Amino acid sequence: MKALILSGGHGTRLRPLTYSQQKQLIPVANKPVLFYAIEDVIEAGIHDIGIIVGPSKEQVIETVKSVDWDAEIEFIYQGEPKGLAHAIKVASDYLGDDDFVMYLGDNILREGIVRHLEHFKEENFDASILLQEVPNPQQFGVAELSEDGRTIKRLIEKPKVPPSNLALVGVYFFKPIVHEAVRNIKPSWRDELEITDAIQWLIDHGYRVGWTKVTGWWKDTGKPEDILEANRLILDDIKTSIKVKTKARIHGRVVIEEGAQIDESTVIKGPVVIGRNVVIKNSYIGPYTSIGNNCVIENTEVEDSIILPDSEIRDAGRIVESLIGRGVKIVRGNSHPLGRKFVIGDNSRIIL
Ligand code: TTP
Repeated sequence: MKALILSGGHGTRLRPLTYSQQKQLIPVANKPVLFYAIEDVIEAGIHDIGIIVGPSKEQVIETVKSVDWDAEIEFIYQGEPKGLAHAIKVASDYLGDDDFVMYLGDNILREGIVRHLEHFKEENFDASILLQEVPNPQQFGVAELSEDGRTIKRLIEKPKVPPSNLALVGVYFFKPIVHEAVRNIKPSWRDELEITDAIQWLIDHGYRVGWTKVTGWWKDTGKPEDILEANRLILDDIKTSIKVKTKARIHGRVVIEEGAQIDESTVIKGPVVIGRNVVIKNSYIGPYTSIGNNCVIENTEVEDSIILPDSEIRDAGRIVESLIGRGVKIVRGNSHPLGRKFVIGDNSRIIL
């Protein structure tokens, strides 16, 4: 059994953050989203992991290699992202005759994949997908089940009249027959090889496609609000670990890494994660906030937000529900002409 984790793609919905990095490297609770997928795969006992990388591959390779994983990791260059089934095509030499799990590197699944993998193996399915009940199936790929409910009959992308409320989650199990399916499908209207078409090909050719239901939370972190929601969900489970001495007032569960300096006039209300060498003075850090390494925060209130490393925020009032990139500076100016001064990248959003 191998794993194929997808860390390519355009990430257009996460601009401007994705102009400078792959979306799978955006940190949630100070850990790249991609690492949650790698951890789930290793927890399931899979040792051979192929990671699909796109045009900005160096960053992904460097970030993954910065950790000593208990696994053999290979990077597979996809080039232009031409669809999830295209990713399988470019990885076919690596995957060979092995069964494999395909895991979208921007998805986070609280319960991991152990139970789902067991079901795939026990039932000896040719493929098996994960489904979750959603209130708005019109916005997802949706499954229609067979009469006995054990297998999949049809997959429909964003149906106007959904046959069920069961949406496709970004984790799929396959036997090597999927390679034949991928070779036989044609690009869709958006010029991508769609994984739903490959699975439908399996069903139409008499192969058994099973499914399991995701019961814990699942988050596809494709949009900024999803990243913030994933951050809340992960922070809900953290345990207190404070590695520095501080006289700040701390309530609730808080992680503070080495080298952080937090003064006594600061109030921190967890769940909060504060990275290495962060400096915080006279500020309030409210629930559901993750602050990356080397940030400086002074005379500011931050709540329900993610701040990436190396950013500096001073005298900035109250910041809520924000996703702030690397090396960002938000400060109060005191030279004329007064007023708000911006140097902002394309597709940024400022809500005053
Ligand atoms: P998507 O979120 O569907 O696509 P995207 O990354 O291009 O994002 P956007 O729509 O905002 O432009 O992709 C799902 C996951 O699969 C994500 O982790 C990226 C990855 N992916 C690849 O690795 N290769 C591909 O060809 C595609 C389409 C996606």
